[in-house]
Amino acid sequence: MDRVIRIGLLGCGTVGAGVVTILDREADDLAARTGARLQVTRVAVRDTTIDRGLPLPAEVFTDDPMAVVEADDVDLVVEVIGGRDLAGTLVRRALELGKPVVTANKELIAHEGPELAEAARAGGVDLAYEAAVAGAIPIIKPLKESLAGDRVTRVVGILNGTTNYILTRMTEEGAAYADVLSEAQALGFAEADPTSDVGGHDAASKAAIIASLAFDTTVHAADVFREGIEQVSATDIEVASRLGYVIKLLGIASEIDDEVAVRVHPTFLPKAHPLAGVRESFNAVYVEAEAAGELMFYGRGAGGMPTGSAIVGDVIDVARNLLQQAPGPFPSSHRRKRLRPIEDLQTQYYVLLDVEDEPGVLAEVARTFGDHTVSIAQVWQEGSGDTAQLVLITHRAREGDLRTCVDALEASSAVRKVTSVLRVESEVWE
Ligand SMILES: NC(=O)c1ccc[n+]([C@@H]2O[C@H](COP(=O)([O-])OP(=O)(O)OC[C@H]3O[C@@H](n4cnc5c(N)ncnc54)[C@H](OP(=O)(O)O)[C@@H]3O)[C@@H](O)[C@H]2O)c1
Repeated sequence: MDRVIRIGLLGCGTVGAGVVTILDREADDLAARTGARLQVTRVAVRDTTIDRGLPLPAEVFTDDPMAVVEADDVDLVVEVIGGRDLAGTLVRRALELGKPVVTANKELIAHEGPELAEAARAGGVDLAYEAAVAGAIPIIKPLKESLAGDRVTRVVGILNGTTNYILTRMTEEGAAYADVLSEAQALGFAEADPTSDVGGHDAASKAAIIASLAFDTTVHAADVFREGIEQVSATDIEVASRLGYVIKLLGIASEIDDEVAVRVHPTFLPKAHPLAGVRESFNAVYVEAEAAGELMFYGRGAGGMPTGSAIVGDVIDVARNLLQQAPGPFPSSHRRKRLRPIEDLQTQYYVLLDVEDEPGVLAEVARTFGDHTVSIAQVWQEGSGDTAQLVLITHRAREGDLRTCVDALEASSAVRKVTSVLRVESEVWE
């Protein structure tokens, strides 16, 4: 086989090293599947002096990523530098030069996906990003291609490994959030600055990408309603467990009456739901479609080799298309659908209140809920005296009504503090 596809690799950190390792280890099989040998000819890094222990000659490394994109001996660009500005400039330039791009950059795709897809279309080349959502798990291709003939109605995902690890430890050990986060940081499962993960930003980027593909529309990361896990307490987890739920950070995208709703938040999920058993740092995506019914995709959402696997899969696709001089399917000519505001969400809620332990308190709390058309499904008191707490589960209510109800509870003399409000997604799976 004398045909060669020459790859320019932008970044050679955790994921880039995984890509290089797979391309080297599986070289013969990949060549047979692709119809050409896949050769890394240029690699951009910040520090060219580090010995990365990879099967690459020293002369392929450069600290000039644009030179990699523009090099004559680069046919296909793999972007694993990360971040938005530089990566965006490099990806746009590659597409403009008619070079296909494979990227793992969820942040870039979630913020500029439609514009970059348009640039790819204009350049007549592929832009592939399977690795950008849930690492090794194939979910982009199933949504874009395998399910293109069906109507997807809802996608629910555990899209962030760090938060799933933290919530798993809290659930199984009864530990407090802050303690588990410190442990996860010491073990390298959480970043020194964990905001992107624990605040739900990372999951929101992935949910935006999923929603855009699932519902043939444009959803940017900023359109996603987002709440992180920072406020989830050991008490919330214990109450959830007693009621038959686990708490998971879910990305939920659904289409209702031609409107798209996308949200990421900690959620009470029935223990019997298939996603409830997804433990530790694993990711999973649960898809509901009209004809196909329910599908579940499960696996490692991060790590150099798992993410590298998704990237190399894309590289093969893109390389084949390059050989045939025919780019793969472009995104459909979607139309922008209206985004349903979070206030119009209808779901059940769990509410935990610190209350005065006095006669009449329960009646006043119940009246406040009733005044805001939020009906109570279950209520009971925990503790007494200074530690009296009311736990309430509502029937399905409108989020906007629930919020004004919470404001009224906070102003009520019967309530010392509204400690927790979490959404209960029993209708995710009935
Ligand atoms: N890590 C995962 O498990 C995972 C999973 C899914 C998706 N992703 C995505 O994959 C991308 C890469 O993640 P990563 O974990 O591999 O990051 P990383 O380990 O920090 O690697 C980044 C690489 O880019 C290079 N780089 C950064 N800025 C540069 C610049 N200005 N010029 C030249 N080279 C530059 C770095 O060079 P030096 O090595 O010299 O510093 C490094 O090799 C991100 O978009 C991330 O969101 C990661």
